Amino acid sequence: MIVLGIESSCDETGIAVYDSEKGLLADTLHSQIEVHAEYGGVVPELASRDHIRRLIPLMEQALKQANIDKTELDGIAYTAGPGLIGALMSGASVGRSLAWALGIPAVEVHHMEGHLLAPMLEEDPPVFPFVALLVSGGHTLLAQVKGIGQYELLGQSLDDAAGEAFDKTAKLLGLGYPGGPVLAAMAEKGRQGVYRFPRPMIDRPGLDFSFSGLKTFALNTMKKAAHADGGQGVLSEQEKADISLAFEEAVVDTLKIKCRRALEQQQCNQLVIAGGVGANKRLRATLAEMIAELKGQLYYPRTEFCTDNGAMIAQAGCFRLMAGETQPLEIDARARWSMQDLTAV
Ligand code: KG4
Ligand code: ZN
Repeated sequence: MIVLGIESSCDETGIAVYDSEKGLLADTLHSQIEVHAEYGGVVPELASRDHIRRLIPLMEQALKQANIDKTELDGIAYTAGPGLIGALMSGASVGRSLAWALGIPAVEVHHMEGHLLAPMLEEDPPVFPFVALLVSGGHTLLAQVKGIGQYELLGQSLDDAAGEAFDKTAKLLGLGYPGGPVLAAMAEKGRQGVYRFPRPMIDRPGLDFSFSGLKTFALNTMKKAAHADGGQGVLSEQEKADISLAFEEAVVDTLKIKCRRALEQQQCNQLVIAGGVGANKRLRATLAEMIAELKGQLYYPRTEFCTDNGAMIAQAGCFRLMAGETQPLEIDARARWSMQDLTAV
């Protein structure tokens, strides 16, 4: 089965072609960084308009890359939520209409399910059951994954998602957008041990997270540093780097502690990392070290499939279409959609 996948939930338009036999045939992406950079964050209306501009040309590019005609497609998969409603509607409308025009089935994909199954795009895919850490801009959660659509929530962020904490702290430091990668790059120049941030909620039992306090801690640290030693209230680049490193270490360490706790609780030694923050090098290295101690296995998608992309949507949609799932003609998209509401495949 050959499936065209469409991702348009936030600030990236992704279109890919996935073949159930041969794997990924094409993957195209357009990032809206330039559109939103001057505003320091995603402007939803601008995102929707840009998706509308990009969807059809990217689709043509993906079909060309896959070396197939649209009439050879067997199904269309599109992200139906969660995300920005206007952005989701752009991709959902194009996807559902194209499926209708071609007389082929369409299926809705849950954006986070796309992320969670993304490591299955790689050569050595994880085998069910496994524990998954989903860390993106909108979500941070730990789940026991028994199969496709069988996600038992073990813990989640009670406030900011890990990616959101990166983005907000980067903004406070004046590092720009998107915050995660720029803060991570800054942290590489930081000196270890200059600052130490708290590891939120590790003393409490359970697997929930809370990252919003780290942003406040960063702000207070910045104020103190800027006025220390007769400072003029301005942070030097080195101070920014030191704070970035201390912040990144706190987030990564907290995620590691909770992942280890989840694996021990579930008596499992297979861990999957997915979502945008999964692109973070320190997180990957730290989790790899932890999993080696447990003599387990760590899985994550290649960097470009950690952040939003069409490939993960095409793949997840293909799994669901092959199981006979289809969406009727109505075009439905939702800003909020719980993973627990997904059906098992
Ligand atoms: O999965 P994703 O592309 O979109 C959502 O579904 O939210 O995740 C985007 C998030 C943003 O918050 C971004 O700052 C963060 O992932 N991110 C990173 C890195 N690359 C992206 N955070 C830390 N380190 C990175 N290298
Ligand atoms: Zn995402």
